[in-house]
Amino acid sequence: MLFMRRFLFAILAFLTINNFTVAQGKLKAIKAGKVIDVVNGTVLTNQVILIDSNMITDIGSALSIPANAEVIDLSNAVVLPGLIDCHTHLTSQPSGDYYGDIFRKSPIDIAVTAHIYAKRTLEAGFTSCRDVGAPAFVDVALRNAINNGEVEGPHMEVATLFIGSTGSHGDLNGFSPFLDWQMPKQMSGVANGVDELRKQVRYNIKYGADVIKFGASAGVLSEEESVGGPQFSQEEMNAIVSEAKMWGRKACAHAHGAEAIKMAVKAGVASIEHGSLVDDEGIKLMKQNGTYLVSDIYDDDYILSEYSKLGYPEKIINKEKMVGKLQRENFEKAVKAGVKIAFGTDAGVYPHGWNAKQFFYMVKFGLTPMQAIQSSTINAADLLGWKEKAGSITKGKWADLIAVENNPLNDITVLEHVKFVMKDGTVYKNELKH
Ligand code: ARG
Repeated sequence: MLFMRRFLFAILAFLTINNFTVAQGKLKAIKAGKVIDVVNGTVLTNQVILIDSNMITDIGSALSIPANAEVIDLSNAVVLPGLIDCHTHLTSQPSGDYYGDIFRKSPIDIAVTAHIYAKRTLEAGFTSCRDVGAPAFVDVALRNAINNGEVEGPHMEVATLFIGSTGSHGDLNGFSPFLDWQMPKQMSGVANGVDELRKQVRYNIKYGADVIKFGASAGVLSEEESVGGPQFSQEEMNAIVSEAKMWGRKACAHAHGAEAIKMAVKAGVASIEHGSLVDDEGIKLMKQNGTYLVSDIYDDDYILSEYSKLGYPEKIINKEKMVGKLQRENFEKAVKAGVKIAFGTDAGVYPHGWNAKQFFYMVKFGLTPMQAIQSSTINAADLLGWKEKAGSITKGKWADLIAVENNPLNDITVLEHVKFVMKDGTVYKNELKH
């Protein structure tokens, strides 16, 4: 009897203590000096943001703060929604040994470093990303570990294997046919023809793809000849996109060349990645179809200054020289024409965590600072299909927000120095001095 009573008492005590801790830990109130309202394109002052666990429960200037809420004082800072990068490769970055990266790394090497890059990305203020191509489903494992709270990183939407034709940007080129190079199935999304492509889309989705990525045109950082040439037929692109749609997935196309861009847009992709050589007709088509442009216009700087030192073949550097400048000019044309823009950097081409360096170029080439921020918040959330969950500081959305010391609308480069990061209601970084 005595034992029973003690036992019940212990259970009761346990429950009380636990409830108490949960209630204490989960309510947070942020006092924000300024808030960038990306929905209305304005700046709000002296706001209170209420957070319960991982959600924003309210925002306003005259909200009362519950007595048991933890107060976070950001009254001297500018608060923004967590940033979103729609084009990352969290699984890699160049090590300085080009051939070593290709031939001497297994998916295990890749997996043991990916979490480091995920953490850097989050600490740079990017609370979500769309990761558009990774070998061996390492991106799925990373996304799941982050979602389970085992690894620190952004919310991830993942594409798994990059789907490309034989000899394409998604294949490996430049080696002797006597090597008969065939990447193992788990590493490669090389497929051709309608049937194989439909099967590949299904395979990617079966093992965890949230989004489908394919190579509509040739690329820069690969050894095939042309940069712009289409690498799938119209029929093949249509098959990829319609198969993805059947499974409730959006598709995005790696496309530098003008023709390939138009073909991918006609096939119904949600976004064109890179878009370097887009022509007037392509811009018009993108506008008509509401296709997002995700253009990595910072990379040219890094590739031209670092890639020779990092051991990349001259052929690749020469390709970059052909597209880099045009990509920026065409980005500006697309912006002027009113094409929808979502922020995406191809992080992994350069060191992870430098994502925000692209904002400077987006503003230099036509966006207002507010539009540049919107491209990485509300627009990006729309492209990811996460408009109800992310992209603005709004009641009912994830408590993903960041803070900087100065107003990014006056100088967009302050976003390169994010001082405070909260994701899902948890603070991952706070370097603000009060
Ligand atoms: N992943 C892209 C490719 O290899 C990178 C392009 C980088 N260059 C640029 N100007 N954005 O095609």
